[in-house]
Amino acid sequence: MSNSERYDTIERLRGRFGADLKIVGHHYQADEVIAHCDLRGDSLELARRCSLIDSRYIVFCGVYFMAESAALLAGPDVRVFLPEPSAECSMALMSPPKLVRRVMDLLTRERRKVIPVAYVNSTLGVKAIVGAMGGAVCTSANARIVLEWALDKADAVLFLPDKNLGHNIGDLLGIPPGERHEVRLRREAEELDLEAADKARLLLWPGFCSIHTRFNTRQILRVRAEHPGVKVVVHPECVPEVVKAADAAGSTSFIIRYAEEAPAGSTLAIGTEINLVERLAAEHAGRLNILPLVESACTHMAQTTEETLCAALESLDETDRTGGVSPYQVSIGMEEKVSATDALERMLDICR
Ligand code: 13P
Ligand code: SF4
Repeated sequence: MSNSERYDTIERLRGRFGADLKIVGHHYQADEVIAHCDLRGDSLELARRCSLIDSRYIVFCGVYFMAESAALLAGPDVRVFLPEPSAECSMALMSPPKLVRRVMDLLTRERRKVIPVAYVNSTLGVKAIVGAMGGAVCTSANARIVLEWALDKADAVLFLPDKNLGHNIGDLLGIPPGERHEVRLRREAEELDLEAADKARLLLWPGFCSIHTRFNTRQILRVRAEHPGVKVVVHPECVPEVVKAADAAGSTSFIIRYAEEAPAGSTLAIGTEINLVERLAAEHAGRLNILPLVESACTHMAQTTEETLCAALESLDETDRTGGVSPYQVSIGMEEKVSATDALERMLDICR
């Protein structure tokens, strides 16, 4: 199938489903995919919007945890599909549920009240543990509010899996380094330093995003030398030194707003996934000079292409006609569904 045939097939199937189908995409998706999306957003916006969609089908262009969150929040008659079911966020896989449970057991062994807060970039199993233990999910756009909520209710918070986001929010909340502790997980957490953990208010899981940890302060110094007056804006999954050295940090929607509000003629160097940076550069061409701090691509997001989107829609078309089950459909285990949904809904309530 040629590119233009594929484009036309997707649009024909969108037309055939009409209001029964919404195609949604995260800002990190490639332009060829975004071109077919009814809505795009950051993790928080997409979670909110998917909870309100009343079409029969949602095709989610993003990574697995995002489609899974959409499936948890969507109404009972809405079915969610992911064009590339193996597209997993590598950071989400850094906190296996069994190990999270073990660490929580150790941290609360003497009845210390520890609440877990999971970044939405986490698995269903982790969200279920968090929900069952009274915690909540957060995204990069609301991590500060959710963490404040949890710290208010407990002696300490276990933030997982992104230690960098955790430290960056800890900095915003003025939590001194002496009140933070990164848990050690080697040998099934046998090396966890319980004495240090018991003194900390902010406990951090040692996960990270390998796309955002490619940004460093040398790149910031270089861009400032080459483009005097440049504003540097980065995602809070970057390491704290980079966030501190930047002019601003925030979620993907924050970065988009920052570009919209920047005065004409400015130069921005952006530290986040390259698809978003290039789209912003094209959208603001002639008004702003937008450069990547360095090119960094998320290979997991890139697994969704116009080709996989087309294949998923063709499969949906067939199963819609025959009543079968599409291999692209996201299915949620019943055991984990209730608690994981509680954790997500708690986030939406806290940030209402
Ligand atoms: P947002 O919460 O900004 O959408 O980011 C999600 C993500 O995966 C960043 O790497
Ligand atoms: Fe996961 Fe990082 Fe890709 Fe975001 S950019 S989906 S955190 S691997």
